Amino acid sequence: MPYAEPGKTKFQIDLRRHLRDQDICDNLVHLICEIAEASKYVINAVRTGDLGVAGTSNLYGEEQLALDVLSDRIIRKRLIHSGVVCNIASEEMEQIYEVKGNADGLYSVAYDPLDGSSLVDVNLAVGTIVSIYRGCELLQEGRHQVAAIYILYGPRVSMVYSVGNGVHEFTMNHLMEYTLTRENVRMKPMGDIYSPGGLRNKYTPGNESFIRHLEEKGAKLRYSGGFVPDINQVLMKGKGLFMYPALKGSPNGKLRLLFELNPMAFLVENAGGAASNGRCRILDIKPESLDQREPVYIGCNDDVNKAVEFVANG
Ligand code: AHG
Ligand code: MN
Ligand code: MN
Repeated sequence: MPYAEPGKTKFQIDLRRHLRDQDICDNLVHLICEIAEASKYVINAVRTGDLGVAGTSNLYGEEQLALDVLSDRIIRKRLIHSGVVCNIASEEMEQIYEVKGNADGLYSVAYDPLDGSSLVDVNLAVGTIVSIYRGCELLQEGRHQVAAIYILYGPRVSMVYSVGNGVHEFTMNHLMEYTLTRENVRMKPMGDIYSPGGLRNKYTPGNESFIRHLEEKGAKLRYSGGFVPDINQVLMKGKGLFMYPALKGSPNGKLRLLFELNPMAFLVENAGGAASNGRCRILDIKPESLDQREPVYIGCNDDVNKAVEFVANG
């Protein structure tokens, strides 16, 4: 239950208090709270900032928007000043940023500052995705994450986190504080929502037959084009599957292992779901580079297994 009700007073649990009950060290509590603080400036930038291009490109050669660059700076600055971070990798930076004077800092962070930024000009939901590792190594399997977080900037702002002990949702209130709205989110084994990324005419035969299978079983199409709101729907409804498969001409799909897939896979698995690239568990992939992409099937366990079966037989 999100609220304890002593008498009739609604008693709200804030993020810091919830984190303190998680049996994690104070430095990790501090780091997650710093990320939550940074998100308040990111949402302000999303709501009122310049919608134009920055005139630069990122690690993937994609054109950066002014909002991508600003969100990246906001988060990086917070991480640097947190005093507990040694290495930082961002979808918007070409290289790992080593925090000066903190070479043996406690944590390293990989993040996508503003996922779905090209949707801001049509006023659709976007988000920030964050992955935290202990120590300075960022190129390690996602199963070693000590925390994963996303912040969804929709009609409301919510923050979902896991430190490996369940998945919890907080919503920003009128004072811009995050208070607990869902605790221990759980996914059903199977669902009836599907969220398919990528152009269908570029799907391989296995993926095409999987989509036909979903259509025949009457699954509902729910795709916004923003990874964070699309995953949030599957996770909070506790059912369904998101996929961004290998495409003809893009054998690794589009989404990035370090900045997008690992943190989301950690969250979905912690809620009882699964995440695969079609051959193995996302969290077991040893990254070879910062910009590695992987196909993804993520959501209810049985739905992910079914997708893997279709892809293998495709
Ligand atoms: P980003 O804005 O960080 O570059 O990532 C966008 C992602 C993700 O939000 C979404 O699932 C996917 O790109 C959609 O891509 P396409 O519309 O290009 O298929
Ligand atoms: Mn992204
Ligand atoms: Mn991005």
